[in-house]
Amino acid sequence: MVHRSTLTIRPNASPEQWSESTNVAADADTKLNVKPLKIGPMVVDPPLFQAPMAGYTNFAYRQIVRDYGGVGLQATEMVNARGFAWLDEHEAEHPDRLWGVREEPRPLAVQIWDNDPEVMAKVGRRLVEEYQVSVVDINFGCPVKQVTEKAHSGSYLLRDPMRMHAIISQMVKACSPTPVTAKIRLGCTRECGNPAEVARIVEEAGAAALTVHGRFAEDYFRGSADWSQIAAIKQHLKNIPLIGNGDIDSVEKVVYAFKHYSVDGVMIARAALGRPWLFSQATAAIRGEPIPPDPSLDEQRQCLLRHYELVIARFGITKGTHLMRKYACCYAQGMPGARFFRSNVAHVETPEDFYQVVERDFPRA
Ligand SMILES: Cc1cc2nc3c(=O)[nH]c(=O)nc-3n(C[C@H](O)[C@H](O)[C@H](O)COP(=O)(O)O)c2cc1C
Repeated sequence: MVHRSTLTIRPNASPEQWSESTNVAADADTKLNVKPLKIGPMVVDPPLFQAPMAGYTNFAYRQIVRDYGGVGLQATEMVNARGFAWLDEHEAEHPDRLWGVREEPRPLAVQIWDNDPEVMAKVGRRLVEEYQVSVVDINFGCPVKQVTEKAHSGSYLLRDPMRMHAIISQMVKACSPTPVTAKIRLGCTRECGNPAEVARIVEEAGAAALTVHGRFAEDYFRGSADWSQIAAIKQHLKNIPLIGNGDIDSVEKVVYAFKHYSVDGVMIARAALGRPWLFSQATAAIRGEPIPPDPSLDEQRQCLLRHYELVIARFGITKGTHLMRKYACCYAQGMPGARFFRSNVAHVETPEDFYQVVERDFPRA
């Protein structure tokens, strides 16, 4: 099986270990013992998570991932709680980002963000009662200025654990018995980061799981995720599972993360955008089963076309075609000829353009 590397990985935590990790044979002595994990009353099996990604993990993408299988829990894009509450008060349509949430199979986590405990609790309750979501996840990791500096939310809240406590505890009360989880980064900056304290507070406030993206917010996506720092959090959690996230872009790295970083679960974001079958391969690996090969290039092209159909059915031809440009680029990433395909698909305007470019330029060999 060929694994395309879609991310540049330069882990600052333990580079030698990561490079060893691509050598499964060298790592064969370490036992792999991956168990289903529990988020409140819910069993997540396999303990593999599809990350929330704004602008990407909509219903169409989730559907594609679900079809390949191998993912224990999927998540929506982050939804702004204040915006949702406003729409609700004004009897307007609910956010676009909740597309499909009512109908699609469970389990499903919806992620929300804001800094007001009352608004968050109210929206959490709404998601539980009206949408019957499996998990309400809170975003404490977004580093984007519009969320941090403008709205004092996302990763901005990592500097204010007491407010995090208030948000989580009020949400837990409002959403019960549906579990509430939190997703964090290591901190805002290296100077103010205290992930151990944050982790303790998250658990004390009643969250049912903690996901940690191993970067500081100040780094956005620069450098590499620090898995040693993710692992160090484990000893500060008493009962809730720790889910590690950052730079996992191959089956081998999933296996390595479970073997060496004491996480209970692994979350994958970017690498699965163009390879939604990655979860099924990773699940086979952690279960000790034969790893299914990558789909053929023809099957990958078919998958992209199906994704396109789902997107235009929802967003209409113009918006849907524009939206698909970025997904199409993801599907071709790392393949020979990807640059040529990307440069053409990035300008498609109509379905005819789209089909023509995919048919003609999507990598074939
Ligand atoms: C385009 C994009 C959008 C993202 N949106 C969200 C989001 O809505 N909520 C969230 O918690 N994290 C979001 N993230 C962060 C990812 O969930 C994940 O933590 C990060 O990409 C690291 O994982 P990876 O190395 O597997 O990509 C986003 C990341 C990207 C690249």
